Amino acid sequence: MSNHEHDFIQACMTVLRGNQMTSNGFRYTRPAPHVYEQQWLWDSCFHAVAYRWLDPAMAWDELRSLLAGQVKNGADAGMIPHMVYWQGGGEALWGHDKHSIITQPPLIAIAALAIYEKTGDSTPLYEFYAPLCAYHEWFMRRRDADKDHLVSLIHPWESGWDASPRWDVPMGLQMPTDEQSKSARHGLVATLRDADMDMQILADKGSFCVETADFNAIRVADLEALAQIALIIGESGRRWRDEAKLACEVVRQRLIQTDNDGNMTICDLSGSAEMPIITPSASQFVLLFGGCLSPEQAEKLVNRLQSSAFWTPYPVTTTPSDHPQFDPAHYWRGNVWLSVNWLIWRGLRRYGYHEIAHDLVARTLTLVKNHGFHEYFNPMTGDGYGPSQQSWTTVILDMALTENLA
Ligand code: GLC
Repeated sequence: MSNHEHDFIQACMTVLRGNQMTSNGFRYTRPAPHVYEQQWLWDSCFHAVAYRWLDPAMAWDELRSLLAGQVKNGADAGMIPHMVYWQGGGEALWGHDKHSIITQPPLIAIAALAIYEKTGDSTPLYEFYAPLCAYHEWFMRRRDADKDHLVSLIHPWESGWDASPRWDVPMGLQMPTDEQSKSARHGLVATLRDADMDMQILADKGSFCVETADFNAIRVADLEALAQIALIIGESGRRWRDEAKLACEVVRQRLIQTDNDGNMTICDLSGSAEMPIITPSASQFVLLFGGCLSPEQAEKLVNRLQSSAFWTPYPVTTTPSDHPQFDPAHYWRGNVWLSVNWLIWRGLRRYGYHEIAHDLVARTLTLVKNHGFHEYFNPMTGDGYGPSQQSWTTVILDMALTENLA
């Protein structure tokens, strides 16, 4: 290991260790001190894939604590909340002291499999399998009212892309200010509570209810991972493999539109009427992660990814730079996020685009080395925004070590 590599690994571990918490005997990593003190679902999955290289026990613990937050009773039994309040404090917003009432992208089976692949230790998979099955059963029971194998989000926070222009239309907003967009998201929580988070009631009311391409593609990949975990621990897993195939097929048929000239558009479907919403964003590239594209479709998408609209000086911008709403300095309005880059990087590798994947990691590594472990970045200048010690930015470690680049 070179000195550079050693120093960079140490820098990542310093961020993660600095944000580590222990509560009720459970260990987890908060996304960033002061700003994000709770445990967050998809953040913890990214932390786990970073930890797997250096501290596998902590990688498993990160997921173990997340699963400990699973909802035990009521209509939402099985859901893994997007925020677990280990120290309490959730009551005023959510009506629950210890957790939120919505979820986030399901990456837990994927993260668990990634730790297993690195360590060869299958023991925790026996413990995780039942709660992971319950989580996916919850999706099918509570988020697929029309049984079309596409699950719906009932709040933009569930996507992880909180303030993205993707949500302006389904949130009934037009060119919102940060404040307007934030207050709409907070206001929506009361609507969710009134409807007891029932997606059918919410859709009938015209509340935010969206089947998104990226979330559904992530779900497909997580179902595949769950099926693999099943085989590792001697279960059949057939059910999950079948559901993954079906869901993948529906993503392909319903969320990818191709016109007579062969132009391909990826859309999300909004409301009971399943109105297509087409707001260009990097979320379309997450279809690569779920394996939801034919090789020809993947090629088209990868060409688009490499266009200057997305392949900015620091790729990948989440809103294309030629979009009227592109705003490189504002939260989710046109920034680079390591969470999204990790998904795209894995998707590129899945489809055999190894050189582009490698290049993406090299550029992302330069970004983090030169600008720090910020929450998100300006895709033009590399300037970092949000907390400077954001835990999930250390997922660069997984990318760089896999690509032999650290
Ligand atoms: C922000 C992000 C969300 C993330 C959370 C904690 O709310 O939009 O995706 O999970 O911060 O880092």
